[in-house]
Amino acid sequence: MKKEFIIAGNWKMHHTASESIEFFKALDGKIAEHPELAREKRIEILIFPSFISLYPLKGISQKIKTGAQDIFFEEKGAFTGEISPLMLQGLVTYVLIGHSERRHVFGEIDSDLNKKVKTAFKFGFSPMLCIGETLVEREAGKTFDLIKEQLDKGLEGLSAEEIAAVAIAYEPVWAIGTGKTASPDQAREVHSFIRELLKEKTPAFRDIPLLYGGSVKPGNSFEILSQKDINGVLVGGASLKVEPFFDIIQSSYKIVAK
Ligand code: PGA
Repeated sequence: MKKEFIIAGNWKMHHTASESIEFFKALDGKIAEHPELAREKRIEILIFPSFISLYPLKGISQKIKTGAQDIFFEEKGAFTGEISPLMLQGLVTYVLIGHSERRHVFGEIDSDLNKKVKTAFKFGFSPMLCIGETLVEREAGKTFDLIKEQLDKGLEGLSAEEIAAVAIAYEPVWAIGTGKTASPDQAREVHSFIRELLKEKTPAFRDIPLLYGGSVKPGNSFEILSQKDINGVLVGGASLKVEPFFDIIQSSYKIVAK
């Protein structure tokens, strides 16, 4: 089966600008050593570095795209510490919205995230909306209700065309940075549920990339990426070093090249 993938690295609050440049040069060089991979259009490689690395990373690699870890919904004003969509223009393709750390550490709620998704569209970025349940919610049998709520509220008021242009990252909170990965069955079950929900929102539901995130590493990426309705991975810890991240990219190549 031929599949298309987004292999994304979320660097969170890691890597200075010079470390980021070093990483991009090294990964770009490694990709260039594999011409078949360098030519492969069905694999999109994406890194979400810190905001201050975005400008210095510009133009270093044709193959590695950059995204922003967050965006604010106002264009300018007295919002100390926030990042304006105007400042991201020309620097990013994707914008990560509602990562579980934004929700749980910084208290962002669905209505804020919905404004951010709309802002992303207004400025021509592709929003990647993150959704996922905590362990308590999973054990209480609330996973599907919660996923539906986060998706409905996050995408509220968007047109079918806009919804067709989002990417969704399903990241069970209990699997992020914990070493616990959702089993391929657990991930597939939620992904197919998300696909069904999207069917009610846009006729192009099949084209929406659904990424899995949560302790993805070279040892489990092939199996995860092989699942139906999984179109990519959002990788935290294993994206910080070139070797493991490259191995994850390679596992996606093994699937598309089959
Ligand atoms: P992890 O993080 O791969 O370190 O679990 C994933 C994420 O937070 O996006």
